[in-house]
Parts: sequence; structure tokens; C-alpha cells
Amino acid sequence: MEGRVAVLVSGTGTNLQALLDEPTVGPCVHLVISDRPDVRALERARERRVADVVLDPASFRGGEGHDEALVALLRDHAIDVVILAGYMRIVGPRVVEAFRDRIVNVHPALLPAFPGATAVADALAYGVRVTGVTVHLVDEQIDHGPILAQEAVPVVEGDTVGSLTERLHEVEHRLLPAMAAAALEGRVHVDGRRVAIGGST
Ligand code: GRF
Repeated sequence: MEGRVAVLVSGTGTNLQALLDEPTVGPCVHLVISDRPDVRALERARERRVADVVLDPASFRGGEGHDEALVALLRDHAIDVVILAGYMRIVGPRVVEAFRDRIVNVHPALLPAFPGATAVADALAYGVRVTGVTVHLVDEQIDHGPILAQEAVPVVEGDTVGSLTERLHEVEHRLLPAMAAAALEGRVHVDGRRVAIGGST
């Protein structure tokens, strides 16, 4: 597999770890970008000798400057596929345009239900009996692009944000690497909002 992957992170990086551990995707991860220094995800990159860069939004005057720097960095590293794995910033239109249909995000709810940064807490507070994980392509709107994969996770009696997040993570760690592999292998076929995933070769 020749494709080059960049993973954008902000925190613990358990999804990054799942990507690094996936046999097709792992060797293709050439760059990890974090918007925060000193996060566990950066240690995970270093443990695998993957190049890492901290792109701190505070060091840019505006969002556009940050987006331009991000695009330049991705191009410098000849990146083909960008994975947002717990990246807590909005990816600006310049980045979306430059990597149209090649940016993949994982979200801990069944979109279009519960978009945004507090999806697990929002689903619990709403009282849903079933929530889940969505892996989707990134477009100009938040948590909105064409859906690559979804899997339901039941909410059980006594669930807390912590316990539910843990079960959602188990699904994320399976679904995100599978869809990253499909994107890398050119098996993602987008037709408007509808996506067909071709079989692995
Ligand atoms: C995941 O639950 C993901 O869905 C959300 O942020 C969390 C990141 O977790 N966008 P980690 O940093 O991969 O452990």
C-alpha cells in the first residue's frame, strides 16, 4: 500500500493507536498533527517513530492562517488521506477543499443525531436507548459529510458518560481503521450523500 495518511489528534489518541495497529493502515501513517502539546497521542506517534507536529491555533492570527499552515504541512508530507481521530477543532473550508472526500472523521453518536463536542452526554441526557458510532467524510458543515459506516451501541441501565464512552470506543477502534483502509485502497465511492464501499482486494 502506497498511500500516505496523516492523523489529526487532540488528546488521548486511542483511535490513533487503533489506526497504528491496523496492518494496512499502520504502515501508511506518516504524520501525526496535534493542536495541543503534551498529549498522550503524541507519545503514541513517537513510540512508533511517526513524525509529529504540534500546530497550535493560538500561534496563528486567524483561523485561515491556521488552515493554510495545515494544508501546507499535509502537502509537504505528500499526504493522501487525513483522519480526524479525536481532533477537537473544526477543519476549515480551505482544508476541506484541498482534501475533498479524503478527510475521515469518527463521531461518537449516530449522526445526524447529537452532532458536536458533547455527543455522548447529549445522547444520555436525551434518554435514547440506542446510540452508536459514525465514521464519515468531512465537508464544510460540522459532523455532516457523507456517511461511510455506522454501528449501533445500546444504552444500558445505569450508564454514565464514562461507561458509555468506553463501549463506544470499542466500536470506534474497529470501524475507523476499517474505513481508513477503504479510503486508502480507493474503495470509497461517493455519489452525493450516498457512499458505496467496495470489497477489499
Ligand atoms: C472519540 O470518542 C471520538 O469519537 C471523538 O473523540 C474521542 C477521541 O478519543 N471525536 P481518542 O483520543 O481517540 O482516545
